[in-house]
Formats: sequence, C-alpha cells, structure tokens
Amino acid sequence: MNSPTRFTLKDFRASAAAGKKLAMLTCYDFTTARLLAKAGMKMLLVGDSAANVILGHDSTIPITQTFLATLACAVRRGAPDALVMVDMPFGTCLSTSSGARNAAEMVKLSGCDCVKIETTRGHLGLIQRLADAGIAVFAHLGLMPQSVGVMGGYKAQGRSAMDAYAIAELAGDAVNAGAAGILLEAVPPEVSELVTQQLDVPIIGCGAGPACHAHVVVVHDILGLSEFVPKFAPRLCDVATPIVNAATKYVKDIESGKYPAKNHAYQMPADESRALKAEAKKVGIEIKGK
Ligand code: KIV
Repeated sequence: MNSPTRFTLKDFRASAAAGKKLAMLTCYDFTTARLLAKAGMKMLLVGDSAANVILGHDSTIPITQTFLATLACAVRRGAPDALVMVDMPFGTCLSTSSGARNAAEMVKLSGCDCVKIETTRGHLGLIQRLADAGIAVFAHLGLMPQSVGVMGGYKAQGRSAMDAYAIAELAGDAVNAGAAGILLEAVPPEVSELVTQQLDVPIIGCGAGPACHAHVVVVHDILGLSEFVPKFAPRLCDVATPIVNAATKYVKDIESGKYPAKNHAYQMPADESRALKAEAKKVGIEIKGK
C-alpha cells in the first residue's frame, strides 16, 4: 500500500509552481534509501547509472530491467515516503507496444511512482500510450547516456541556439504527448531557463543550471565514491577514505590475531563447555577455549 505521507507527483507540481527547489539523488539500495530519507530527500532516482556505479560497466547499456526493478524495490522499502523514479533501461522502449508493456511491468515490479525514458521523437507515441494508461513518465532530454554511440561520447548538449531550440521543442512535444515532467542532463543554463518558462510541468536538472525545479546527481559522486565525477556534481564528502581505512584495519587485526577478541565470542555455559572438552579429549582433540 502507498504510504499516506508519501511525497507525490502532485506535491512536486505544487512545489515547482510555488518556485521551491527540491533535491533529488540517485539511489540503488535499501540502506542508502533509508539514510537519504532521514536526510529529508523527498525524491530518489533509481537510475540506470547503477550499471556504472553498482555493476562497474563503462556505460549504462548492459543493465537489465529485472535488475533495476529489484534495486528499485529495495529503494522503495528504504524510503516509503519518497517519490521514486526508475529509469527504463536501454532497449526496453524500442517500440510503443514493447515500451508500454515494459513500463507497466516496471511500475508493477518496483512500486515506483514514475518512470524516466531517454526520449527521442520516436518515443512520443509511447509517452502518450503510458499517459493514457495512467503511468507517469519523465522525458529525459539533453545528454542521453543510452545513446552514447549516436551522440559520439558523453558531451554536453544544446550548446548552439539551434540545438537548444531542438531540445526545448522536443520537451514541449513530450509534454503535449502527456509527459508528467522533463529531466534535462548536461545542458547550458539557457536551455533550462527556456524550458522551465515555456512548460508548466516540473523540470529536473542534472547539470542543467539553476532554473530547474529540482536537481539530481549520482549519489556516489557527492559522497566521494566515484573515480570520475562530472563537473556539475558537488563533492560533499569523502566516504571512500574511511571505508578504505576501516577495511585496512580489519585486514591487519585479523592477520595479527587481534580480532576476534573475547568480547566478540558467544558464550557456552561452563558445564557444557567442560562436557564438550571431555568428549573431544576422548578422540584426541584438545579444546582450549575459555
Ligand atoms: O541514471 C542516472 O543516474 C540518470 C541521471 C539523470 C543522473 O539518469
């Protein structure tokens, strides 16, 4: 059952209309979702960037819908009050009918509130079909990592007036088709200013300038867990160093015999311990414990 206190799409629309700014982070697991919810994060994206930061691939292409849906379920459990958005992975929206089937399956399996589709003109029919079916879709425009082959690398988009206008035009067409909102990735601030002024839906930016109603980045990037961090992601702490330090100490403590110590052991009642030692002695084994 949906949490009655969940931050919904309706709340997001109201927040955007009131000119408030919202924080969103990617999230891929239960524990992090719980911590981010505790920090007041109202919106989480189960991004296909999980292919990079969870699975270690060098692109988002290999991730499967089943895997991402499983991660999204964990995020949903960790943050029942958050608006959870899930990416439709590469190859799941090749046609309107397969895309509609896959998106419905994603919502069903993951319990997410909306899906995000890296959108070209060819997806407008799908967006309309999903909107008709009551599935909220965010159209992802600008840099679309699933199209890295076509885009010729992970480069900022919309840097010429013509390209910027083309993005804004497609954003408008996606909204006319029924998109609940737009996500703009790696575009100059002028593009998001144009899109936010032109459209009446929430606009999420990922390296898209301050005009957007919400801003999302990959959680690993702000925590200092990523080796490569895009220029737009703020590095807010260094979680990697304490993890490496703790693991180094664990290795040393085991190798030196410092761990496990007496206080880490389960206790056996003294008479049971005596009985076990006596039985073991009969077969030539000496137990020293306690
Ligand atoms: O998968 C992802 O992480 C994204 C970005 C917008 C951050 O789609």
